Amino acid sequence: MERRVSTVISDNISRLRTEALERIAAAPSMEAVDAVRVEALGRKGALAQFSKDFGKLTPEERAEAGKALNAAKQEIEEAIERRRLGFESVALAARLEAEWVDLTLPAPGTRPGSLHPVTQIQQEIEDLFLSLGFTVLDGPEVETEYHNFDALNIPPDHPARDMQDTFWLDGGLLLRTHTSPVQVRGMEQFRPPLRMIAPGRVFRNEEVDASHEHTFYQLEGMMIDRDVSVAHLLYFMKILLTSVFRREVTVRLRPGYFPFVEPGFELDIHCLICGGAGCPVCKQSGWVELLPCGLVHPNVLRLSGIDPEQWGGFAFGLGLTRLAMMRYGIDDIRLLQSGDLRFLKQF
Ligand code: DAH
Repeated sequence: MERRVSTVISDNISRLRTEALERIAAAPSMEAVDAVRVEALGRKGALAQFSKDFGKLTPEERAEAGKALNAAKQEIEEAIERRRLGFESVALAARLEAEWVDLTLPAPGTRPGSLHPVTQIQQEIEDLFLSLGFTVLDGPEVETEYHNFDALNIPPDHPARDMQDTFWLDGGLLLRTHTSPVQVRGMEQFRPPLRMIAPGRVFRNEEVDASHEHTFYQLEGMMIDRDVSVAHLLYFMKILLTSVFRREVTVRLRPGYFPFVEPGFELDIHCLICGGAGCPVCKQSGWVELLPCGLVHPNVLRLSGIDPEQWGGFAFGLGLTRLAMMRYGIDDIRLLQSGDLRFLKQF
C-alpha cells in the first residue's frame, strides 16, 4: 500500500526534529546551539524545505503536515531557549564564584592618618585653656593695618613696624604678621572680664632657612580682669608649660620690648636637654627663650574702648611651630610644611 505523502512528510519532520533536539542537547556552547538553529529553523533550513512540498497535498493533508511542522518548530525553539538559560546560569555561577568576597574579613592594610604635630600641640593647649575658663577665638589671616599694628600701639612711623617683615596687600590690607590682632578683635567683640586664646597661621616676608619660614603658627593669649598682675601671668604660664612638656619646668622672666605690653617680658625655661647645666641647644646658657609676654599696655586697652583705670590684663604670644620643634626634636622648620609623608607619618 502506498503511503500517503503527508505521512512521509510527517515522518521526515519527526526525524529532523529528533535529530535537532539531540544536537541541541549535546551542543557544548551557545554558538553551537545557534548553528543548529540556523540549519533547522532558518529560512533556507531543513524544516523550511518541507513547506515546498505542501502544494502536492490535499487541504486535509496539508493541515496535518502544517501542524506537525509548527509543533516541531516550537519544540526546537523551546529546547534552544532552555539551553540558553542553562548556559547563562552556568556563566553567572562562574562569575559569582570568581567575584566572591568574604565581607566578614577585616579590611586589608588600612593606614589611618594622624594629626599634624602642630595641630596636636594646638589642640592640647586649647583643651587646657578651655578647662581654665578661656574662650578659643579665630581671626582673619588677611588683616587690616589697624588690627595688626595701630590698635596694638604700633602707629605707622613706629620703628617696631620693622620688627616684623610684612606681606602687604592692596587697599591697606596685609597678611597678619602675628596672632596679636585677634586680641583686638576679642576686646572689640566681648567686654571685660575676658579670657581668650587665639591659635592661628601667621606670615612674615622672610628668607626661608632651617629656622625661618614665611608661614608659621602662633597661639595668642589674653586675660583682662580687675587687678591682674605679673603673678597671674606667671601662674598661667607655668600651668601651660608643665602641661605641654609633661613635667615641672623652671622659668625666669627677662625684660623684653613689645609696644603692646608694659612691662614686657621674655619668658625663658630651664633647658630641657641639659637641665640647666649648659649644652649646644641652650648655647651653654642653661636657658631657652620660649615665649614673649607682658601686661597689656594701657593704650591698647584704651584703643579698644576699655578703661585702663578699671581693668588690666596680661597677654602672651606662643610660637606653636617652635614649640612643636622643641617637643619632637625637629631641627628644620621647613619639614613641617613640606607635605613629605615620610616625615608626617612619624606623628
Ligand atoms: N606678637 C608678638 C610677635 O609675634 C609676640 C607677642 C609678644 C605677643 C608679647 C604677645 C605679647 O601677646 O604680650 O612677635
